[in-house]
Amino acid sequence: MATLDLFGRSTSPLTSVADRIAALRTELQTHAHRYYVLDEPTLPDSEYDKLFKALQDLEGAHPELLTADSPTQRVGGKPLDQFASVRHKVPMLSIRTETDTEATGVQNFDTRVRKELGLTDTDSVVEYVGELKFDGLAMSLRYEHGVLVQAATRGDGEVGEDVTQNIRTIRQIPLRLPADAPDVMEVRGEVYIRRADFEALNEKQREKIAQGAKGEKTFVNPRNAAAGGVRQLDPAIAAQRRLSFFAYGVGDMTPVPQGGPFFDTHFQLLMTLKSWGFPVAAQTQIAQGAAELIAFHKNIGEQRDRLPYDIDGVVYKVNSLTLQKKLGFVTREPRWAVAHKYPAQEQLTIVLGIEVQVGRTGKLTPVAKLAPVFVGGVTVTNATLHNEDEARRKDVRVGDTVIVRRAGDVIPEVVSVLLDKRLPDAQLFSMPRVCPVCGSAAVREEGEADYRCTGGLFCAAQRKEAILHFAHRRAVEVDGLGDKLVEQLVDANVVRVLPDLYKLGLTALASLDRIAEKSANNLLEALEKSKQTTLPRFLFGLGIRHVGEATAKALARHFGKLDSVMAATVEQLLEVDDVGPIVAQSLRTFFDQPHNREVVEQLRACGVNWEEGERIAVAAKPLAGKTFVITGTLPTLSRDEAKDRVEAAGAKVAGSVSKKTDYVVAGAEAGSKLARAETLGVTVIDEAALLVLLASTVQ
Ligand code: IVH
Repeated sequence: MATLDLFGRSTSPLTSVADRIAALRTELQTHAHRYYVLDEPTLPDSEYDKLFKALQDLEGAHPELLTADSPTQRVGGKPLDQFASVRHKVPMLSIRTETDTEATGVQNFDTRVRKELGLTDTDSVVEYVGELKFDGLAMSLRYEHGVLVQAATRGDGEVGEDVTQNIRTIRQIPLRLPADAPDVMEVRGEVYIRRADFEALNEKQREKIAQGAKGEKTFVNPRNAAAGGVRQLDPAIAAQRRLSFFAYGVGDMTPVPQGGPFFDTHFQLLMTLKSWGFPVAAQTQIAQGAAELIAFHKNIGEQRDRLPYDIDGVVYKVNSLTLQKKLGFVTREPRWAVAHKYPAQEQLTIVLGIEVQVGRTGKLTPVAKLAPVFVGGVTVTNATLHNEDEARRKDVRVGDTVIVRRAGDVIPEVVSVLLDKRLPDAQLFSMPRVCPVCGSAAVREEGEADYRCTGGLFCAAQRKEAILHFAHRRAVEVDGLGDKLVEQLVDANVVRVLPDLYKLGLTALASLDRIAEKSANNLLEALEKSKQTTLPRFLFGLGIRHVGEATAKALARHFGKLDSVMAATVEQLLEVDDVGPIVAQSLRTFFDQPHNREVVEQLRACGVNWEEGERIAVAAKPLAGKTFVITGTLPTLSRDEAKDRVEAAGAKVAGSVSKKTDYVVAGAEAGSKLARAETLGVTVIDEAALLVLLASTVQ
């Protein structure tokens, strides 16, 4: 058997052309099967296209070796047998791809069209329609007497699969057409998944995997997820995939509307479909001649990253249906249409290293450092591996050849590894147990996918966020210490840990760019003022994971003193109202870090102080155990004031209404929360009633 490299080049000079063709066909068949039938591609499209082109070239040069079973001689893969087969009345054809991705590719197409139509330079320009080339899967929707009766995949172009049940779940697809539609009407278009839906789907998959679900995997790309969704045997699962659809053409149509109102041109046809309720991309546009198509190609290329879904190119179609008819077809492809691609969104590259990055919230993310590769129009050198489970599942190792994907503004990611290219000594990756930035312990809580640095205030990666949180008006409140200033203080290395804030002097502040003396003085004043605080504010300000304002208040009430909170065991913490195992563990982990204890001590040493008390029995609070939701604008109290007063009476304030809510306090312009309270039968009161309630219960 011939040995071939990825591009079908023979690595042995003695291999015959026939052997090379046979090997390429086998290789392409294997990949097409994985891609189209199993939905488990192991090669990026761009590589597949190259192999395909290599075979086409060889067959072109040796037509005597061309056989009907070559992958170049059919449109797609074989249908799966679980679904009923559907024979298309009008075959679902493919379109030629213009291999020249530059603007000259447009010129080539226009020249061919003009030649076929017998037009000369003196004839006017041909009118085209520019469309997006959606990266999903083709679908034929059959309507009989205005009712959707069948949805079929393309299959091999002649026979596809009946996936009606699944397609009916796509809300964008009308189930009924207006009365003026032909008796039999097939609408053709693309089923796809929007990038945001794809990201959400994969996020959900990652969560399931983190929680130990068996047999779950993340999806390689939106097209793959869409194809999997369309081929689900259970329509309920297909519905969860949030499939989308764009219409771009028609198939069977009887009676053919003779010179009817809709179909003189392709554009009119699309507008008719649009008027029937089908999604037609807003970018679809009429273009006069090659020049306007070139502008279209450029314009869409610039928008590509910002589109909410993947496109792999644009499609040009001759607008006049009469001219389309005149042009006809070459084998299985219309002469009146062409696909013009953009740079591929998936490419092969090599992993040079794996680094662990620490995010603003302490989340540790493994990132593959890549040999620079041009993907989706930019050069990529980093790709996220998301978390430990994903890195393990994909088993990415230094030195591996991987498929990297970059689509739109989404962070580039490693899709899969080409295992047959792995070096024998490649080392398995494992997450570090300490934060690579500050050396604090890195922990992964139960049921969570991510490791987090426990360094909190001490960790440089989390510093800005930690300082902003500390200075927040509901925490220790340092007036005027906002985003910009924190950024400068941290970047200039003037503030490394929270206590450094209280060591700031005019000289240090004056050394910063763009800070006027007046603002410097104001900041110093605000810092001085912030030293006098309360225990709940201080506890909340420390930014301990899962410790929100309500928890900080509950802790302060329960323990009275900071030292008691710091010394409390998990069991003792669990006694606090509102504290569950996750919060208790988070508190313990935080205060077990010597760095964090040090920060607290230094803050106290700098003069940050509060009144300490004895443990307060929560039961003594009159509204203890009650849950309030505050919504809308109250006449006299601000939302914060109302919250403080309700909490002071021992009640909890929640953000959303549920059956467990005791009271909803509604002000002007209360919206969905009020409506929900009414639906659930929760007591709704106004501010006046709240004040009465507080007055009657709090002495
Ligand atoms: S027209 C006779 N228009 O690209 C022409 N196809 O081989 C039939 N595609 O898998 C196709 N966007 O699903 C057409 N605006 C568009 C398209 C489009 C994506 C897909 C189509 C097929 C492939 C063409």
